[in-house]
Amino acid sequence: MTTEYRRLRVALLGAGAVGSQVAALLLRHGDELADRAGAALELAGIAVRDVDAPRDVELPRELFTTDAESLVVGADIVIELIGGIEPARTSILQAIGSGADVVTANKALLATHGPELFEAADRVGASVYYEAAAAGAIPIIRPLRDSLAGDRVVRIMGIVNGTTNYILDRMETEGADFADVLADAQRLGYAEADPTADVEGYDAAQKAAILASLAFHTAVPLDAVHREGITSITASMIEEARSAGFVIKLLAVCERLGAEGAESISVRVYPALVPHSHPLASVHGANNAVFVEAEAAGSLMFYGAGAGGVQTASAVLGDVVSAARRHIAGGVGVGESTRANLPIVPIGHVTTRYQITLEVSDAPGVLATVAGILSDGGVSVATVVQTVEGEAEPTARLVIGTHRATEQALSATVDALAESAVVERVVSVLRVEGE
Ligand code: NDP
Ligand code: HSE
Repeated sequence: MTTEYRRLRVALLGAGAVGSQVAALLLRHGDELADRAGAALELAGIAVRDVDAPRDVELPRELFTTDAESLVVGADIVIELIGGIEPARTSILQAIGSGADVVTANKALLATHGPELFEAADRVGASVYYEAAAAGAIPIIRPLRDSLAGDRVVRIMGIVNGTTNYILDRMETEGADFADVLADAQRLGYAEADPTADVEGYDAAQKAAILASLAFHTAVPLDAVHREGITSITASMIEEARSAGFVIKLLAVCERLGAEGAESISVRVYPALVPHSHPLASVHGANNAVFVEAEAAGSLMFYGAGAGGVQTASAVLGDVVSAARRHIAGGVGVGESTRANLPIVPIGHVTTRYQITLEVSDAPGVLATVAGILSDGGVSVATVVQTVEGEAEPTARLVIGTHRATEQALSATVDALAESAVVERVVSVLRVEGE
């Protein structure tokens, strides 16, 4: 006997890499999804820019329209997969205004206009679902929003950008140069034609803002996220990291700081040294992983595909089923919790360990001078490795591992080192995370 379900109208905005796969899966698995959602999900239409553009999968021509506004009116669930700020923002606000729940994968929009969208949804009792907006197919939004709602998240360390992980991984495994691997990443379709958002850390910073907001119940604006990319990472830095027992990964770090009652948070994206023994060190290729530490749960690791049309469609459809269930059950949507509203500290106040690589002249007293500068700056040395190259005018390479120091102290000390007569060159300064 077939169950008669209530019909819910689903409007899809965008049929690119992700949207076309969402439409195909929604059409192919309609009956199964209806059983899971408790509602028949009727794909009412697909709004695109050009109805005749080629699609990754075959989809019924009659579903396509360029009139997103008409499609949104009367929909129960609106899936926004256009990307960018406008017209995605306006369409989502229209959808909320007309009583629909919204599913989106749009990290750029959520990281910049999230509070506006969540407040609009709260006002009418609707929900905004966005599992695919951080780390693609990996379930991380729902674990932070629901499964860990009874715990206190202490730290998140995530590899949340596939393109940069692919580049760093190939530099690590093949000793290849940044520019060569970036060209391959573009050819393979991992990186955008303009890869700035990936390699300069903007994409990871958007995801960090989203994850930190959820984890710490605090609205984290994008400009509060400290961001550095990977364009300065060289093959020799990777080689040096390896000899010291580390890999270099672009990390999104979201951290709770200070004692209970006087807490703050830090949200930052930068390339960092990760010990070989840390679970994030073995995340290869374009994969993503998010390592969460919570007070009661301890360490949790979420791993998988952070991008890709069909992979990301999985997360989007999970949200569609959740939205349908809520629609059927009734009641108000679950809003975003920003009750804690913890202060966000600037990068200068963050403490980490560092590895500083210097080229210095190989002469008596040089090591003592370097040690003196570090000591004057309040930066305590944990390890020093020296290698010497050249015979006539030998140059020593010093790799100095520090104890924990503030960014402020470290950066003033590195400036002093760079100005010192004994230092020929500051080769690199990298933070150490995950120890
Ligand atoms: P694409 O660029 O592949 O597709 C965008 C779609 O939006 C196209 O179908 C395009 O239409 C349509 N579109 C663009 N402008 C308009 C407009 N003004 N009105 C109506 N439709 C419009 O994007 P993706 O599928 O890659 O990404 C979609 C979202 O998912 C983004 O927010 C992205 O950040 C996110 N995401 C993507 C991942 C991925 O692996 N691709 C992973 C995780 C998240 P037309 O086809 O006619 O040009
Ligand atoms: N450009 C992104 C990445 C796509 O490389 O991870 C997924 O957000």
